[in-house]
Formats: sequence, C-alpha cells, structure tokens
Amino acid sequence: MASVLILGAASDMAVAIARKFASEGYDIQLAARNIKRLDSLCSDIHIRSNVSCTAFEFDALNFQSHRNFLNNLPSIPDITICVFGYLGDNEIAREQWQEAERVIHTNYTGAVSVLNAISLIYAKEQRGTIVGISSVAGERGRQSNFMYGSAKAGFTAYLSGLRNRMFKENVHVVSVQPGFVYTRMTENLTLPPLLTAMPEDIANGIYNAVKSGKNVVYIKWFWRYIMLIIRNIPEFIFKKLKL
Ligand SMILES: NC(=O)c1ccc[n+]([C@@H]2O[C@H](COP(=O)([O-])OP(=O)(O)OC[C@H]3O[C@@H](n4cnc5c(N)ncnc54)[C@H](OP(=O)(O)O)[C@@H]3O)[C@@H](O)[C@H]2O)c1
Repeated sequence: MASVLILGAASDMAVAIARKFASEGYDIQLAARNIKRLDSLCSDIHIRSNVSCTAFEFDALNFQSHRNFLNNLPSIPDITICVFGYLGDNEIAREQWQEAERVIHTNYTGAVSVLNAISLIYAKEQRGTIVGISSVAGERGRQSNFMYGSAKAGFTAYLSGLRNRMFKENVHVVSVQPGFVYTRMTENLTLPPLLTAMPEDIANGIYNAVKSGKNVVYIKWFWRYIMLIIRNIPEFIFKKLKL
C-alpha cells in the first residue's frame, strides 16, 4: 500500500491532510515534536479508514537528527509532505534575534534540511513525491510579516530548484502557495471569509495536485491573481501602503 509521511503532523492542516490521504487508502506516518498529541488522531484514522497510522518524534530545528529520523522509519514513504511552519511576531523578531532565528530556521533551514535528506533517498530509488507548504507571503515582502515572508520566499525558491533538479530522478516536487487559511496559526487574526480557505481545502488541493502531477498550487485559484497584482505594484506606491 502507498504511504505518506506528514512532517509537522499536529497542525490543523496536517490533520486534514492525514485524514484525506487515509480516506484514499494511504498508510500514514505522522511526525511531530510531541507524539503523545497524535495518539487519538492515529487511532481514529486507523479505525475510520482501515489503514496503518504510526507516529514519530520529529523536531524541524534539530537539523542533525533529520537523516537518522528518516533512516529509522520502518519504511520509506512514497510521498513526503512538509507542513510545519512558524509565523512568529514580526516586530519581536526585528528586536530579538532568537525570535527571528526561530522564524527563519523553522520555515526555511529546517525544511531544507529534512527535504534535502529525503530527496537524496528518493534520487537513489528513482521515485517519490515531495510536497512543501510555502505561502503567498513569500511572493513580496510586506511590513506586517516580512520575517516569515522572507523565509517562505527562500523555501518557495528552494522547492522550485528542487523540482528542477529532481525531474531527471523521476521525483515530483509540488509547491503549495496558500493564501489565508483558518488554523491555529491565524486564530488571532481577522481574516476575510471570502479569501480564506479551510484546512480541508488545502488537503483536497494537495491530494489532487499529487495525483495530477501539478507543480505549483494556490488552492483558492484567485490567490494567483491577487499575488500577480501585488507583485506588480510599483515600489514607490508599495512602500507607502500598509499591508
Ligand atoms: N494558516 C495560514 O493562513 C497559512 C497560510 C499560508 C501558509 N501556511 C503554512 O501552512 C503550514 C501549516 O500551518 P498551519 O496554519 O496549520 O499552522 P499551525 O497549526 O500553527 O501549524 C504549524 C505546525 O508546525 C509545527 N512546528 C513548528 N515548529 C516546529 C518544529 N521545530 N518541529 C516540528 N514541528 C514544528 C507546529 O508544531 P506544534 O503543534 O508542536 O506546535 C504546528 O503543528 C505552515 O507551513 C504555514 O506556514 C499557513
């Protein structure tokens, strides 16, 4: 049976992704910092979808552990989905390096570290799919979240390059560019309902992208055009806007 590894598995999006792939018959490997929190999800997935569900400890910031983490999995997953991320507080991150470092290392360095490792395994096996959840925030730096946005910009560029590099190894790389999504990350923000997706929309979008071999997905189609407009606002106007 095909299997999927979900990195950052306690997040709302990850839970929806795990349920979607399980409902389509995939065995599920969940990886998160605190695996106790995954117990009830795992047994629920197993009972509902009759697939195997296992949980593993994983810390995106413990870069040195990533290769061992993958080598110690009972089986190499067919699909690896990198979901973890950290929004942080932009103003605190400007003032305190520890917060800036956490934003950069969670969204960029940690993701690159673990995806480098899995891509080497996939290259050897000449198969596999890698999905990275980046963000539209990476498409243009804005005053409200440019620490997070710049780390996601790096991650988006990394995924693009990885896709290009892995094509000849028969490995597919999907970049996911969500706009707003209702999750724990955004629970303190006021989001425009019409522009905001549910975690289940992300899960369905990722499943369809993997199945149809898509390269870049925005989930809600209009975000592609919103970002096209935002990217093209002249800098002398953009710098005066409060975005
Ligand atoms: N929500 C949005 O509007 C939105 C929009 C665009 C992109 N995204 C991206 O979507 C992804 C999922 O986010 P979400 O909205 O579902 O947010 P979330 O619920 O806050 O999930 C973030 C997850 O990342 C995990 N994480 C953070 N640091 C980690 C580390 N060092 N090691 C392992 N796991 C770590 C957290 O683990 P714990 O549970 O242990 O804290 C949490 O489960 C993120 O990459 C985010 O940047 C979100």
